[in-house]
Amino acid sequence: MADNRAIGVIDSGVGGLTVVKELKEQLAGESIIYFGDNANVPYGNKREEEIAQLTKNMIDFLIDKDVKVIAVACNTISSLLDKYFTDYDIPIVSIIKPAADYVVENGIKEVGVIATKFTVQSGAYDRFIREGDESIRVISEGSPNLAQIIDSGNFTEVRGVIDLHMTNILSKGDLKHIILGCTHYPIVLDKFKERSPSINFINPAYEQVRYINQLLEARNMKAQLDKSTFQIYTTGKEETYHKMLNLLSIDLPDNIIELSCQTI
Ligand code: DGL
Repeated sequence: MADNRAIGVIDSGVGGLTVVKELKEQLAGESIIYFGDNANVPYGNKREEEIAQLTKNMIDFLIDKDVKVIAVACNTISSLLDKYFTDYDIPIVSIIKPAADYVVENGIKEVGVIATKFTVQSGAYDRFIREGDESIRVISEGSPNLAQIIDSGNFTEVRGVIDLHMTNILSKGDLKHIILGCTHYPIVLDKFKERSPSINFINPAYEQVRYINQLLEARNMKAQLDKSTFQIYTTGKEETYHKMLNLLSIDLPDNIIELSCQTI
């Protein structure tokens, strides 16, 4: 049996488009409804309760739109899933757990994680990776501003900020693998590679979508559509999405709908 309902995707802003890119590559027949809360970006500097409330608003919005699964295309939110979001009937899929499994399954013994301050302080990557193999060394670096700089669409400062974080993390270990633990960061993957060409930068979006594919297959929930649809809802501005979609070579959606700012 097919399930033609859309896949819901949530993020604090445009970072989740890196997950949309993977959905369009790995699950091309599926419809997508995206929610980007750009008015409240960055989540990574907020209090836990505030992030949980903003996230609940997004999840409830997408459940009202009758999505079949929600991809949490945000590491910061994913670090809170176990604590706040276990009571829903529909699957809510973390981006952290599949990336942690990738590290364990590929026998990586030492891995870096660059993420928001909140994600790093939550210790979620360390926890999920060590649950798989407690001998793996995880070296983390938190950024207070990189996600917001990328979300603003003004990339002039990006190189300098990446250089600072790469210098910091490489001073803590001779790393070969680094997880880009914030979905905004793969938007500027070329700049990370330019700074450190020999490092394997891991994009968790790939592993998350691979996991969603397996989940839909196991539950007989894949769509069979002549034409899939793609809609974006944002508390920010439509132009920001045009710019980012273009940068990521993602086709324009059927529509982009600006919502008034979420209230907490
Ligand atoms: N893109 C998000 C993440 O993966 C959140 C960035 C932010 O809002 O601070 O963590």
